[in-house]
Amino acid sequence: MTALDEAVRVLRAGGLVAFPTETVYGLGADASNPEAVKGIFAAKGRPAGHPLIVHLASEDQLSSWARDTPPSALQLARAFWPGPMTLILKRAQGVIDEVTGGQNSVGLRIPSHPMARDLLAAFGGGVAAPSANRFGRISPTTAEHVRTELGDRVDLILDGGACDVGIESTIVDLSSGVPVLLRPGHISIRQLESVLGQPVGRASQASPRASGTLEAHYAPSKPLLLVEPARLKATIAEQSRAGVVAVLSPQSPFTDVVVAIWRQAPASSEDYAHDLYAALRELDASACTTIIVEAPPESGQWMAVRDRLQRSAAGSQTHAT
Ligand code: TXA
Ligand code: MG
Repeated sequence: MTALDEAVRVLRAGGLVAFPTETVYGLGADASNPEAVKGIFAAKGRPAGHPLIVHLASEDQLSSWARDTPPSALQLARAFWPGPMTLILKRAQGVIDEVTGGQNSVGLRIPSHPMARDLLAAFGGGVAAPSANRFGRISPTTAEHVRTELGDRVDLILDGGACDVGIESTIVDLSSGVPVLLRPGHISIRQLESVLGQPVGRASQASPRASGTLEAHYAPSKPLLLVEPARLKATIAEQSRAGVVAVLSPQSPFTDVVVAIWRQAPASSEDYAHDLYAALRELDASACTTIIVEAPPESGQWMAVRDRLQRSAAGSQTHAT
């Protein structure tokens, strides 16, 4: 039996399969089986009531999951699926509350990773999958990360190598008539607007609950400080007096301050995103006591990376207290 056959067997039996997508690894279960979906929450330690994304093999399946598919959804689907985008649409009848968190909407995505596509095509149904990490922690971008996070809480891990994009999908809410960005990602607001020919709003506090939009998220276990470039050197000097400092910055290592670990980040936002979670895991596992990250530019191109770093910093404060 191939790993893929075995994965399909596990999903049909109500088990959990971790699988690679182009964004991050997902923790998958049969999206039409309430008990299987409950297993996801148990394995992650995620509070019930947080909605999950349903992963599909093809657009033909949309009508089984979404009650209506507005023209804007079809435009975005044509432009960006298969790929790193999730659409929030009005849910079809029969979509279970365990998946939607009891909301009237459902999150749908057609991923492009070949192994995810093969799995979804062979399984035939929808696969509910959040990122395959413990709740609030750093998302996994390799099979090894999933093993470290979840161990035997998952029945099977498909290994598809390191994820291309490296951060979670762009989420666009189309369930209310006007498009709203719930989570920035590799596909930028500008790309969405150019396909839609209309402005895309930003999520407000009143938007539907999305765990990726909680302040504390993607968090290492050590305190993480996000520092503007102008304050970097002074902060390193300050922090190294109290402990062991690790730095993530696109600059080459400073020679006039003491730094235990310096990880040089890629200069482009795409490469930075690709490496981000692996870098944070590595620094978190190092002998450092504090992680200092140089804040990337505020331009639209860096929006998704900045978003994840801000949440990592906020989340690490929560753990620290
Ligand atoms: O790239 C990704 O999206 C990855 C891969 C595995 O596909 N998945 C992922 O899932 O990041 P998760 O559960 O970690 O984040 C999904 C986000 C959550 O913030 C969730 O609350 C939101 O999507 N979401 C799902 N359904 C929703 C809905 N009906 N309304 C509002 N937000 C929703
Ligand atoms: Mg997640």
